[in-house]
Amino acid sequence: MVGLPARGKTHIARRLARYLSWLGYSTRVFNVGNYRRARLGSQKDQSFFDPDNAEASAARAEVAKVALDDMVAWFADGGEVGLYDATNSTRERRLQVADRCRAAGLQVVFVESLCEDEEVIESNIRQTKLHMPDYANFDPERAVDDFRQRIANYARVYEPVVPDEGSFVKLIDVGRRLEAHRIQGYLPSRLVYFLMNLHPIPRPIYLTRHGESLFNVEHRIGGDSLLSPRGEAFAARLSGFVAKEIGEDREISIFTSTLRRTIETARPLGRTTVEWRALDEIDAGDCDGMTYEEIQRRLPDEYESRESHKFDYRYPRGESYRDVIRRLEPVIVEIERERTPVMVVAHQAVLRALYAYLMDRPPHECPHIEVPLHTVIKLTPTTYACAEERIALGPTASAITRP
Ligand code: SIN
Repeated sequence: MVGLPARGKTHIARRLARYLSWLGYSTRVFNVGNYRRARLGSQKDQSFFDPDNAEASAARAEVAKVALDDMVAWFADGGEVGLYDATNSTRERRLQVADRCRAAGLQVVFVESLCEDEEVIESNIRQTKLHMPDYANFDPERAVDDFRQRIANYARVYEPVVPDEGSFVKLIDVGRRLEAHRIQGYLPSRLVYFLMNLHPIPRPIYLTRHGESLFNVEHRIGGDSLLSPRGEAFAARLSGFVAKEIGEDREISIFTSTLRRTIETARPLGRTTVEWRALDEIDAGDCDGMTYEEIQRRLPDEYESRESHKFDYRYPRGESYRDVIRRLEPVIVEIERERTPVMVVAHQAVLRALYAYLMDRPPHECPHIEVPLHTVIKLTPTTYACAEERIALGPTASAITRP
């Protein structure tokens, strides 16, 4: 990462880490500020960041080196994407980082966040910096003042990344403009694709399964059945919930799968919906339409195999959770891109995978995440995470498919 303080570097690094971990890459953020706080104490005023303060500059260079050493060691241990979250504000500093990484056989991409919008900077300082341990006992106005001086200290020596430094992506004014240079290969391209769609505007994301289906009542998996009477009652309640929560005049983007039970659940909302094939339930292949008891009786090896490694288990001629995550990637980018609230009406396995992404849970936990019928999961982004609320709308579904 590259950028002055309060340019959203940590936010960007964490979002990238969440996305890449969810895609299955071993990813970690190395935040130099945290190393500095752990080693040198948190309560440092702006003079510590003054480039003319030789003693402090040496101490800062030392913690930055320790973080870099740890990152390089972590790569040697099998890490795949390391996010070195620091200001890296001078060309000399970046050269040291890049040389060290390249010597270890690592590919380097600089992600620089540039922003001169005073409103954005002010809101970033107030929302994130005031809550740092650095300002634990500070009066808020004094803290803002000190942080502004800290930024000014960095700005005195700041040098933006230039083309001869290698591959880079510049996010200018919180993504209003993006510049990419020498981006090649699969992973750097995914990174740019993701960054192009990222924005910091918080809005809730609602996840819900379809109403109880006729297959749910019979404990059958897969299929394309319609809703049971209880499922229809849930659809009506969902419509009331959205009307109250969002209001008639506000927009909400509603995504369903292409299966009838989600389309029927969203119909009473009376809003435009987008049908995504990528949101269709995990493909149970040869087991589609069977109950779990039938699978256990007729295909005991398959049943056992699924019980023992559910994340990687692939139904014969069907899919695994890992496959589902891969196909959901465009939906994730679309959810990131939307600036209005989003509601996803989909299926258990698919929602588990989306939930794991939004709540930053390791992919292998997906198959065990609780996503009950007739319950809306409301996720509201906070500074670096998501707050969760579960709203049970009922009616109680009598037959909930076993996970
Ligand atoms: C910090 O110590 O808070 C940040 C260090 C840096 O990246 O400049």
